[in-house]
Amino acid sequence: MRQPGKSGSSREIAAILGLQWGDEGKGKVVDLLAARADVVVRCQGGSNAGHTVKVGGETFITHMLPSGVLHAGTRNYVAHGVVIDPEQFAAEVEEFRRRGSRVTPENLFVSDRAHVVFPYHKRVDQGREAAQGEKKIGTTGRGIGPVYADKMRRVGLRVADLFEDEMLDDLLAAGVIEANSTLAGLGASERFSPDEMRRWALQWRDGLRPFVTDTFARLRAEVEGGARIILEGAQGALLDTDYGAYPYVTSSNTTLAGVSAGTGIRGGEIGRVLGVAKAYATRVGAGPFPSELSGALGDAIRERGREYGSTTGRPRRCGWLDAVALRYAIAINGVTEIVLTKPDVLTGQERVGICVAYDLDGRRVTDFPASRSAQMRLRPVIEFVPGWKDHLASNGPYERLPAEFQEYVARLERLCGAPVTIISVGAEREETIFRAAGAR
Ligand code: IMP
Repeated sequence: MRQPGKSGSSREIAAILGLQWGDEGKGKVVDLLAARADVVVRCQGGSNAGHTVKVGGETFITHMLPSGVLHAGTRNYVAHGVVIDPEQFAAEVEEFRRRGSRVTPENLFVSDRAHVVFPYHKRVDQGREAAQGEKKIGTTGRGIGPVYADKMRRVGLRVADLFEDEMLDDLLAAGVIEANSTLAGLGASERFSPDEMRRWALQWRDGLRPFVTDTFARLRAEVEGGARIILEGAQGALLDTDYGAYPYVTSSNTTLAGVSAGTGIRGGEIGRVLGVAKAYATRVGAGPFPSELSGALGDAIRERGREYGSTTGRPRRCGWLDAVALRYAIAINGVTEIVLTKPDVLTGQERVGICVAYDLDGRRVTDFPASRSAQMRLRPVIEFVPGWKDHLASNGPYERLPAEFQEYVARLERLCGAPVTIISVGAEREETIFRAAGAR
């Protein structure tokens, strides 16, 4: 039996969630904690995610697979909240095997309830973006919006349907008609045929088949058996469909509720919620970004932090850390600890900015307004703290880090109301500072 804490939650079950616009460095954090975990679960999103893990100088990027696949003893789940591109899945399994990871049906499980991304979803995603012109969202073009829309409209095709030929044909026929009509409406010339999509499905379903199972039932058994579980979030709180700056969001709940809905592990069972935040802010794609630095400093941060999308290669917009947005993300998720990443990128700055409020038409506000036009008019109120000159060494205690850095961390904690327990100062596993033994 699982050992519950006072509230019924267990410290053995931890969620790792992005607190900004994605790209906070969740992949490295999941990989670090996976060393002591039995199970790692991808909960929502799809191949729009790109989780980067660096091990021994080698870089691994997962889009579909949980970041736990780099640990031999870990059981990895792609749960029902994820949308699966079987072609991308096969490519990733093949790549990780080639590079020495053990990826087998004994340590990787894919939900039979997960929805499937077809090539027409991607084309509709890209076509809609092209048609929007200036107003485009800046999606990753991976079909995420259209496939989640199909799911909600109850016309989607799930992994289980891939293996029932008649059902597959029926669902594809309807899906293709609709995609073609959407493409025609967008003025795009490309059309899909049900036969072509059927061939595509048959080509890729065999690679998926050995991994497919009822992940809900298996995960319940893992919970009851007391497994140490990591729930790997994708994207970040400010891209959440409900809480983010709609419509400049992704099409899933990227926050704790999405983790539960997407896996079957209940919110009350999750004892640790680690929120990952970069020491500055970045976002790819369009939409409001009040603390954005559009000049030379933003460019310098982009170059020093190598801020280019791991899925699309797009340059990321960079800005000061937004403590208003961070406080909001912490409240949404019930974050118990903050993992601060990449403060090393700011080393050498004379002063470091933190956005502590917004100015909206001359009024100071500390909440994110719902109105799209108001969001665009937000101006940042920046508080500057002294920067740190010295290298942030990961081989000594926290107390030996530069005093200015420690003050910056203390200021963040006061602003956000959650402790910073882990600090990542480089891409490698070793480049990490654990402030307390219990943070591991
Ligand atoms: P979509 O998820 O591809 O529909 O894109 C919607 C928005 O979310 C765009 O601004 C994307 O750039 C952003 N987005 C989606 N996935 C990620 C991610 O993993 N990291 C950062 N941004 C993302």
